Amino acid sequence: MKNRNPSIRKAVATCLALAYLLPIPASIAQSPAVQSSSAPQDVAVVKYDNSFEIFKPVWGLKGMVATEQHLATQAGAEILRQGGNAVDAAVAVGFALAVVLPNAGNLGGGGFMLIHDSAKSESIALDFREVAPASATRDMYLDDKGNVIAGKSTRTPYSVGVPGTVAGLTQALSEHGTMPLAKVMAPAIKLATEGFRVSPVLAEQFNNQRTHLERWPATKAIFFKHKSPASTCRLEECPAAEIEPYKSGDLLIQKDLAHSLNLIAQHGAKGFYEGEIAKNIVRSLTDSVSTMTLADLSNYKTVKRKPVEGTYRGIKILSMPAPSSGGIHLIQMLNLLERYPLQDYGFGSAKSIHLMAESARLAYADRAEHLGDPEFFKVPGKGLVSKKYADSISPLINIEKSTPSKNIKAGQPQNYESDQTTHFSVMDDRGNVVSTTYTLNLNFGSGIVAGGTGILLNNEMDDFSIKPGVANAFGLVGGDANAVAPGKRPLSSMTPVILMRDGQPWIATGSPGGARIITTVLQNIVNVIDFKMNIAEAASMPRMHHQWLPDFLRVERGISPDTIEKLKAMGHDVKVMPTMGRVQTVQYENKQFYGASDPRNPDGSAIGIEQKK
Ligand code: DON
Repeated sequence: MKNRNPSIRKAVATCLALAYLLPIPASIAQSPAVQSSSAPQDVAVVKYDNSFEIFKPVWGLKGMVATEQHLATQAGAEILRQGGNAVDAAVAVGFALAVVLPNAGNLGGGGFMLIHDSAKSESIALDFREVAPASATRDMYLDDKGNVIAGKSTRTPYSVGVPGTVAGLTQALSEHGTMPLAKVMAPAIKLATEGFRVSPVLAEQFNNQRTHLERWPATKAIFFKHKSPASTCRLEECPAAEIEPYKSGDLLIQKDLAHSLNLIAQHGAKGFYEGEIAKNIVRSLTDSVSTMTLADLSNYKTVKRKPVEGTYRGIKILSMPAPSSGGIHLIQMLNLLERYPLQDYGFGSAKSIHLMAESARLAYADRAEHLGDPEFFKVPGKGLVSKKYADSISPLINIEKSTPSKNIKAGQPQNYESDQTTHFSVMDDRGNVVSTTYTLNLNFGSGIVAGGTGILLNNEMDDFSIKPGVANAFGLVGGDANAVAPGKRPLSSMTPVILMRDGQPWIATGSPGGARIITTVLQNIVNVIDFKMNIAEAASMPRMHHQWLPDFLRVERGISPDTIEKLKAMGHDVKVMPTMGRVQTVQYENKQFYGASDPRNPDGSAIGIEQKK
């Protein structure tokens, strides 16, 4: 069944969000007038108004797709309807988002795909994170006095890591999909060739990022148009006064991108990592020096990893191991929270928020010290996710008071073993599940389109710790573990998750949001498991975030003023700031599928697949 009008559903859901925040007192919920009544006028109330759920997920019988852009959701749903499996559909979504969500969807970025392949009875974590080019050095973003050169790791050819997306998507398809590449890429090629209408959300992104985008001629030629029909300059060369970014309602056609997609559809990953596209990428990143070479591109390799595993109140959690910090710290926080009766404390209570914030404070302190690319640094992953480690650090949480971050240092886990991103989730009726988060890093990445390709390039190099103790674009600090080195993957926070119940896939979810991804996914899980919300409710609730440093508790609008007062009395520096994360969730429950696309982005949607007859 289709989600008929996601924008309206989401607007209504958002308006109702505040009302939901007040839990129904048990005395009212169980009052005889609500439960039953012999008065005839109350019967109708009982019949039509008997649910406590303000938000409802989308429903389907044969599968589910949830993404941040409804045209990409449709692409995935179409592939499922044609008989493709969840991986076929996810790959279709990945390519389609590169067209219709240019600020985050990508060919020129990287990410992580968690796959549960039911036929092979295995779960894998496919790492297609960008890597630092061979020319990268530890101090490449510092001047000769050792100071950070502002913007070098975010807004220059030096900010671009070797992209992994095309290698990742094509490998997932060939190893776990059933359809030919050209077939799953067809919707993306059509959207790039025929164009699509720019939404108000995307138009706002173009406008906000205008100065960032108009610095690069090839970028200007794609996302800008002449202000007046009288203007005749070539877009690449037009003065800023003569052009404007695409507006809401405009038809955006991306011919160069369609050409690149066709090359990939014909030649597979080689079409991207060798030949015309590769040459154009290298040319675009070569100024006086070449920051990326053809060898960097042809040497790019994905890594198949074992998902990091944990349990929370009996539910198995599968997520992304290093070089993402996401899965490890998600499980670490859940291990800490498992010892508290959050359900009794209630959603949105000062106590629940405080405990989540304190768990996050400890986890993010560890992140700064212990996490990096496992090929370059011994990451104590198993130690960090062990229940024993949670036992050892849990005394650092004071249930009544916040502990200043200056008093918290990274712990010593046992070494047991030697603001742009997007998430999409897919399930099919054969038991396959895909949970993918991929990114260009910041909005539109580096802003650089490789001339002739239509492909925007990432600025993932900023996710390295460019100097110990100096914060990246998300305020995250790090040290040796995440220092720049050639061929190394920068540390990530992306947290694609699959939850397993009784050995079967139950829920897949994930989110964008930089440093805030991990706490967003945490709350989505706690809302379902502890607060018994359905996945649409869980997605809609206001969120909190703490990341150790800087030491403040960030909350979304919708946490009540008296709760904020209580949190302040506990010692938290509370700041109400813009929304965090945009989760995309699918669920299999009672032999049916449910989906929810976060109302924070009205462009997203979930589509359930109908039964043919
Ligand atoms: O890998 C990471 O953690 C970051 N590059 C993610 C960036 C992000 O989520 C930005 N957007 N919302």
